[in-house]
Amino acid sequence: MKGIILAGGAGSRLHPLTKVTSKQLLPIYDKPMIYYPLQTLVDGGIKDILIISDPVNIGNFVRLLGSGKEFGVKLTYEVQDKPGGLAQAFLIAEDFMDDQNITMILGDNLFVGDNSFLKDAIRSFDAGGRVFAHKVSDPSRFGVVEFDDKNKAKGIEEKPAKPKSDFAVTGLYIYDNTVVQKAKSLKPSERGEIEITDLNNLYLKENNLDVKIYEGYWLDTGTFDSLYEATKKIYELRNKN
Ligand code: G1P
Repeated sequence: MKGIILAGGAGSRLHPLTKVTSKQLLPIYDKPMIYYPLQTLVDGGIKDILIISDPVNIGNFVRLLGSGKEFGVKLTYEVQDKPGGLAQAFLIAEDFMDDQNITMILGDNLFVGDNSFLKDAIRSFDAGGRVFAHKVSDPSRFGVVEFDDKNKAKGIEEKPAKPKSDFAVTGLYIYDNTVVQKAKSLKPSERGEIEITDLNNLYLKENNLDVKIYEGYWLDTGTFDSLYEATKKIYELRNKN
């Protein structure tokens, strides 16, 4: 299993913080944001990781993380020329993946607490796709899972005005190697991006998407409030004793 950290995006919701730097380089308490998703992949047992960022910031990720030796992993870097959507990562990563399965994490996603969940999810992964849903109070900000009366996922909607549940799809995705062909078949959405939600719905349509509930602590740090909350949470954890 190989890994991808997607650290692109304009970060416009965090201006002026992200006017001259990448969101994923901002501090969460005592570390740059990207350290946290990197640690999640490391804890998942992934040792071969591709970092994707925009042409302006990619050099800073190389300066920060280097070869990956410090973290016990091998890091490779690729550029996303323009923000073309999360699912575009699999087109950029096609050579890197080399027909293997892949776990992708978004560079602004924090999974804190239970560090064995990903290892378990990867160990039991066979084929298809696997995503992690987490109960949130503000589902409209996310991809939202709709469940049928047997609690089986039946659809995912991206940032719906009227969410059909409180379960957000987190930014951590495990896919088999058919993901590249699936991503190639997607048409850009109205905002001109290849959406990860469309990709997940393709797996769902094939009856091949496993939606796991993640009960640990999760945050997407894309807003001022969640950025602050994340820093507070990490501070509390570090100073517990
Ligand atoms: C993206 C995805 C969304 C997902 C979220 C998790 O949204 O499009 O489906 O729920 O990440 O962090 P973004 O944060 O890029 O708006």
